Amino acid sequence: MAVIEEIRTVGVIGAGQMGNGIAHVCALAGYSVLLNDQDESRIDAALDTIQHNMSRQVTRGAITHDDMMGALKRISKATALTQFESVDLAIESATEKEDVKNQIFLTLRPILRPDAMLASNTSSISITRLAARTDRPDRFIGVHFMNPVPVMKLVELIRGLATSQETYDTSIRFVESLGKTIANAEDFPAFIVNRVLIPMINEAVYTLYEGVGSVEAIDKAMRLGANHPMGPLELADFIGLDTCLSIMQVLNEGLADTKYRPCPLLVKYVEAGWLGRKTQRGFYDYRGERPSPTR
Ligand SMILES: NC(=O)c1ccc[n+]([C@@H]2O[C@H](COP(=O)([O-])OP(=O)(O)OC[C@H]3O[C@@H](n4cnc5c(N)ncnc54)[C@H](O)[C@@H]3O)[C@@H](O)[C@H]2O)c1
Repeated sequence: MAVIEEIRTVGVIGAGQMGNGIAHVCALAGYSVLLNDQDESRIDAALDTIQHNMSRQVTRGAITHDDMMGALKRISKATALTQFESVDLAIESATEKEDVKNQIFLTLRPILRPDAMLASNTSSISITRLAARTDRPDRFIGVHFMNPVPVMKLVELIRGLATSQETYDTSIRFVESLGKTIANAEDFPAFIVNRVLIPMINEAVYTLYEGVGSVEAIDKAMRLGANHPMGPLELADFIGLDTCLSIMQVLNEGLADTKYRPCPLLVKYVEAGWLGRKTQRGFYDYRGERPSPTR
């Protein structure tokens, strides 16, 4: 089956911090966007966030007021995946759990047009394995955006074993049309960015766990000593501690090397539901005027 050559309508599944950013950049690039989440209140919150973030871009002069109004009109709420029958490309950006993603692909099976493309924004899960569970492994690809999507320039493109050349070529045109730069990554656990970044964050959590430094000392050390724009624990809160843990688990299981053991303290934060900024508490508490360390 040939894949669609020209993408006009993009469906985004998962309206969390990544899904709202993907919808944002697609709508600004002129695509019609359907935004879905299993929880309708997340879609409403995402639409508010998109409007807020686009207004900031208008204030900064990055886009015009007309650009913003046009883009906002192009985004529609999709409370059910049955609305995805018109999409040319569906981008899955739901919770980083393989069974959640597989269930979404199963639901999409009877809905998506045969020539539509399917992409996952997974941070770490095998594209080949996800693709194999769909009805279209040749039209499936990993399109890994960075957080926050409207700001970050990079997108990793990951071909699964069965991804066709046409799907790959169409994906390159699509990603470039969003004004993003591509890095090609092979389909191995966590690809490039997270293979390097997340073990560093996990090591920072070990550094805290073993009492080598406090939350503030570790972040300050890496900001001023390694010239990182954000400390690793601040960054972990920004990414989401559940997402960081899931990626470590994928590395640990996929590469079977003990250097990828998730730090027990990271597990504990996730068990407490202290997932970082998105739940107002992680290595820092965000409920006051200023973030304060929780350890
Ligand atoms: N956070 C990051 O920095 C980052 C960066 C790149 C990629 N990613 C990847 O993007 C994906 C989403 O991450 P996020 O940070 O936006 O998470 P998030 O927790 O902010 O959002 C996930 C959303 O998925 C929704 N969801 C869960 N199951 C669903 C289902 N069956 N159908 C529809 N919606 C469903 C949830 O309600 C939630 O709104 C993950 O695969 C993650 O690995 C995250």
